[in-house]
This record gives sequence, C-alpha cells and structure tokens, in this order.
Amino acid sequence: MAVLIGRDVLSLADFSPTELQEILELAGKLKSQQLKLRCNKVLGLLFSKASTRTRVSFTVAMYQLGGQVIDLHPNVTQVSRGEPIQDTARVLDRYLDILAIRTFAQQDLEIFANYAKIPVINALTDAEHPCQILADLLTIQECFGKLAGLTLTYVGDGNNVANSLMLGCALTGMNVRVATPQGFEPDAKIVEQARAIAGGKTEVMLTYDPELASKDASVLYTDVWASMGQEQEADNRMPIFQPYQISEQLLSLADQDAIVLHCLPAHRGEEITEEVIEGSQSRVWDQAENRLHAQKALLASILGAE
Ligand code: CP
Ligand code: NVA
Repeated sequence: MAVLIGRDVLSLADFSPTELQEILELAGKLKSQQLKLRCNKVLGLLFSKASTRTRVSFTVAMYQLGGQVIDLHPNVTQVSRGEPIQDTARVLDRYLDILAIRTFAQQDLEIFANYAKIPVINALTDAEHPCQILADLLTIQECFGKLAGLTLTYVGDGNNVANSLMLGCALTGMNVRVATPQGFEPDAKIVEQARAIAGGKTEVMLTYDPELASKDASVLYTDVWASMGQEQEADNRMPIFQPYQISEQLLSLADQDAIVLHCLPAHRGEEITEEVIEGSQSRVWDQAENRLHAQKALLASILGAE
C-alpha cells in the first residue's frame, strides 16, 4: 500500500509517480474486492461549493472503510459568519482525523492545511481537482491496460480539471494536449510544473485548435465551459467555446478505440453532444463510479487503514 500516512493532498503534484501508481493499484484491488481495509476514523467534509459525486463518494468510501463522516456545510457552521480559516482549522483539527475541503481559492486551502495538523485533501478548488483525476486515471488504465504512452486530449476551458489533468498525465507518462480558446488557457505555472515533471519525455501541448489536438488521441476529455463561481460569465462564453464542443465529428478524428471522459456534471449541447455522452465510446459512468474506489484508496493510504 502507498505510504501516505498523515499527508495533505492539495495538488496532484503532491504525489510522486510511484505513489500515484500505488494509489491506482490499491483502488483497483479495493474495487475488485481482492482487498478489504478498515479504519475507525472520522472525515469532515467542508464544502463551500455544490457537489454530488465528491460528497457522496467520499462519504460512501469512508463508511465502507468503517469510518464516519460529518458534513460541515458552511451554512451550518460559523464559517458562513466569518470565523477565520485559521481558527476553524485549529478547532476542527482537535475533533477530526481528516478533512476534505471544496472551496474557491487554492490559497485558502493552503492556509487550512498550514493550521490543521490533520491531513487536508483538496476536494476541488478553482486551481485543481486532484481527486477527480485519480478516478480518471483509474478509468483510462482499466480501458487500455496502461497509461504511459497514451495521449489524452482535453478540449474546452483551461480550468481546475485541465490543470490537474496536465499534472496527472505528466506523472503517469501520458502525453497531454489542451485545446482552449485564446484567453482561457490553463494556469501557466501548472503548465510549467507539468512540463518539468514530464522532463521532455512526454508532451504537454497547448493549442487553440481542437481538431489538431484530437487527432489520434486515445482519450477525449471535456468539462463545463463555466465553472462554479463563473456562472455570470456563462452566456458570454457560449459562442467563444462553441468550436470546442466534443461532437461526433471531433471524436471521429481521435483514435478509433478512443474513449470519452467528462468529470460531470455535463451540459449536453454545450461542451459535449447528447450523441457523444450517450454513445458507445463514452466511459463517463465508469469514471464517476471510480471516484469512490480511487478516494477509498486515497483515504486508506493516508489514514493507514488495515
Ligand atoms: N466531478 C465532480 O467533482 O462532481 P461533483 O461536483 O458533483 O462533486
Ligand atoms: N470545473 C468544474 C468542475 C466541476 C466538478 C467546476 O469547478 O465547477
């Protein structure tokens, strides 16, 4: 089992390539029930944004490990009344064994992690979504029997999911191509970080051309055009992002065995067509299921489940 006891996971880059492989391997064993692990610990979920998959998969993962979960919605805590993060973190630290946080600024997550001695997991920030990418990599590995050498193309907004995907691909020896409209590129620092991890052995390519990016790819991936917190920009973004829709035409440029992924929730007719998301190459439901197995492996590794 990966030795991650007590560790924070604020970014996908907090894992070494070996640790990432070990988590995926453990996730596979937990999924196939080859292995059962238990830990009697308490997870807190402090989510300042909506969530279906992350909230439920973390909760079920913890229950299946024999632990418990407290849903700390900001509205029912003093967080919504302005209690400083530093104070909240030091108090929760005294009650909980581990904390998963979904928030806006990555910096707020970092403050939390600095003040709480317990492990803090990034359950999505504006900058990253590492837990999503664990499930994505598990899904790709299940479909192709490998990760290294494959090409993943992300088409759409250069958002948190795109940022973490670049890191995940670089860490697992996959080539990654990110096609966005001009002005919507992924975070330049994370691009640099992904390129440093790839070390010139694999490609981290940015382009404005979705067709070029999709050519011969093994995985086509997209996400919403306006993320949580950007709702007021949604209408203006629509025409800009239209050429970046995953349609059957775009999919026809990818490898004939290519799979289509989407972290969900999806907006049919916007970033992906109904035909593609419901089509034979879509693996989005397996991908969503794998959130449970990947996060169970992560929790078990951090909490030292036996
Ligand atoms: N993909 C994902 O994180 O979904 P939720 O927002 O429903 O948790
Ligand atoms: N990029 C999206 C992902 C949702 C799971 C958002 O941040 O809203």
